[in-house]
Amino acid sequence: MPVDYRGAGPELALAVDRSADASLGHQVQEALRRAIRSGTLRPGERLPSTRQLAAQLGISRGLVVSAYEQLLAEGYVVSVVGSGTRVAPAFAGADRSAASPAGEAGPGCLVPTPKIDFGYGVPDLRAFAPRDWLWALSDAVRTLPTADLGDGAVAGDAGLRGVLAGYHRRVRAGCADPADTIVVGGFRQGLNVVLGALVAHGIERIGLEDPGPRDHDRIAGRAGLRVSAVAVDADGLRVDQLRAGGARAVLITPAHQCPTGAVLSPARRHELVQWAQDVDGVILEDDYDAEFRYDRQPVGSLQGLAPDRVVALGSVSKTLAPALRIGWIFTPRRFRAAILTEKDLSCRGVPQIDQVALARLIESGRFDRHLRRVRDRYRRRRDALVSAVAERLPGLSITGLDAGHHALLRLPAGVDEQRVVARAGAAGIAVRGLGDYRVTPDDETPGAPRPAALVIGFGNVTTAQIRDGIGILAGLIDLQVRGEAPGGRPTR
Ligand SMILES: Cc1ncc(COP(=O)(O)O)c(C=O)c1O
Repeated sequence: MPVDYRGAGPELALAVDRSADASLGHQVQEALRRAIRSGTLRPGERLPSTRQLAAQLGISRGLVVSAYEQLLAEGYVVSVVGSGTRVAPAFAGADRSAASPAGEAGPGCLVPTPKIDFGYGVPDLRAFAPRDWLWALSDAVRTLPTADLGDGAVAGDAGLRGVLAGYHRRVRAGCADPADTIVVGGFRQGLNVVLGALVAHGIERIGLEDPGPRDHDRIAGRAGLRVSAVAVDADGLRVDQLRAGGARAVLITPAHQCPTGAVLSPARRHELVQWAQDVDGVILEDDYDAEFRYDRQPVGSLQGLAPDRVVALGSVSKTLAPALRIGWIFTPRRFRAAILTEKDLSCRGVPQIDQVALARLIESGRFDRHLRRVRDRYRRRRDALVSAVAERLPGLSITGLDAGHHALLRLPAGVDEQRVVARAGAAGIAVRGLGDYRVTPDDETPGAPRPAALVIGFGNVTTAQIRDGIGILAGLIDLQVRGEAPGGRPTR
């Protein structure tokens, strides 16, 4: 879609050389041709008005008018009444390599889009309410004092910190103080700055859930921490293993373990807090998926149980959309300064207007309304997944269904997880195997046993797609169980 400047002419960096032999008019023509050929000006984009360009270059308007007429005659530009002069839509000479940056998927690229996306962790992107966000943004822009357009406080907008701390107390039964709340650009950025702060506090080793969120072992390694893998069972993290590994920090997804979906049991929660007290340790709580709990009351944040042992991190990536890139940290006071230093040195801040908009969205009740709407939707999708598995894959266990929008489907003995994933991909279904979530420790920690399983994300698929997708997966699994594969070699 070409940029439309709504009547105001766009700026264009052109210059003329008064000492050159070539006439000024000729120079303008040549500069515009070059800009179009090189892709600086793309098909459909508007040129400045003749008056504006003449004033910018300090030449007579007549020279610019003749240059535009010449380009019109040559087919470089078109002139549309009321819409100014634009680069011709199908300009044949445009440098195509400039039109689509390397690696960027654009129309006509050959990366197949999955027809059914069981990808982990993607919320329902169609549920995002642009009208609500637009309302919040425009309210933020309208009310933001001019002074707030400078660099804000490193901790983030004070108003948003207050709103987030209130939200955490109200919805997550936490006990956050705005003074210990830090706004970040999503969970991952929060994790990076917190890990840096832990290293500054002399912590050397961290325990990570195994299986656990992808990349966290690499992120911890980059921060300078050594990694122990800690197994997860139906009650969540094995605290006995964590204790044996000798770490003084742990990163955990207690509300809905990533990727098994286990919810940390009450006994384990207490065991974990006891561990932190015993080793003078710190628990990093990744509080993602907590808002989506279906059959029972939400389990409160661990941070509420032990505020001086827990750094809680959250973001709107699962509740609104990852594209917003806003998250937060609730930290015990003793880590605050180190976290702020890490944030200040690495990225300074999160867009101020977006912070104010998020505060407005939450304060106005629109955020809660959105959550109620999507929670119902996810519950229906989860139920559709359970029915489809019961019907098409009877006897297979599907777990992790209490919360969130992903579940774990165990594969029958002898079925090769990676082969199912690859065949599913060829059939237009995006899905990951549990093997993708293994942690690479840098010690001898044993980690989890490795069952073959698929991590099924159901946040961004319709119930019809769930039924169809499970039907196709059932066919692929069945082929392997019977020892045959379409177009492939027998499995036994
Ligand atoms: C386990 C886990 N926690 C948190 C997040 C959210 O991360 P971010 O806020 O950086 O998008 C994700 C994203 O997929 C995740 O997988």
